[in-house]
Amino acid sequence: MKIVVLTGAGISAESGIPTFRDNNGLWEGYSAMEVASPEGWNSNPKLVLDFYNERRKNALSASPNLGHKILADLEKHFEVCIITQNIDNLHERAGSSTVIHLHGELFKVRSTVDETSIYDLTGWELNLGDLCDKGSQLRPHVVWFGEPVPMMDLAIREVLTTDIFVVVGTSLAVYPAAGLIHYVGQATPKFIIDPKIPELPKIPNLHFIEKIGSEGLLELQQHLLDTFK
Ligand code: APR
Repeated sequence: MKIVVLTGAGISAESGIPTFRDNNGLWEGYSAMEVASPEGWNSNPKLVLDFYNERRKNALSASPNLGHKILADLEKHFEVCIITQNIDNLHERAGSSTVIHLHGELFKVRSTVDETSIYDLTGWELNLGDLCDKGSQLRPHVVWFGEPVPMMDLAIREVLTTDIFVVVGTSLAVYPAAGLIHYVGQATPKFIIDPKIPELPKIPNLHFIEKIGSEGLLELQQHLLDTFK
């Protein structure tokens, strides 16, 4: 049996990584267009580099929480595919083996003249003057606002073939990721775990678990094992 899980910043909140749109969220302290758009990069690359350097420092000092660990543990009983909007690597550090990063990865950087030239970054620092092997400034390997989402086709294929669909810790405010739920089969059981359930049109077989990620996933794990194992 296959489970596809769409996660957002909320699943990393209990690891001490701020979300974007909650109180004290990242977009309260920063202008998304200044630090997460091609226009912002062109007008002030140092501001953008510093923003992601801070996020890497934060991610390095964070650890996977119970929510991440439960999703990894579910692989003992189910085929689990995680589609995450998060750029941190906490799903992988928790032991999840199939993780699709829709919005890129914090610990990867890429060339600004050849987007297929992608490099692993050790440590947290990327600065002006750090160049790719073609001599261009390296940039964070992150999908900025207004940029295409190359992993979307793969994500849709996974969602179309799932037996269960779970959403954890996302406001479903950002497309195309938020549209994935509409590709899930009508009869397929769907679960949303969030302490503040996002606004949604009527969707068949949708169950709400109005809890924080770790507690909601504990409840769901029990339900899945009781029902399908
Ligand atoms: N457990 C579960 N969910 C939580 C928790 C928690 N402990 N704390 C907060 N949440 C929920 C909030 O209620 C909200 O619905 O997590 C969600 C966070 O929403 P956003 O801050 O909008 O983050 P996300 O949905 O991941 O943002 C999507 O927007 O800024 C861009 O590219 C960025 O990937 C990001 C995308």
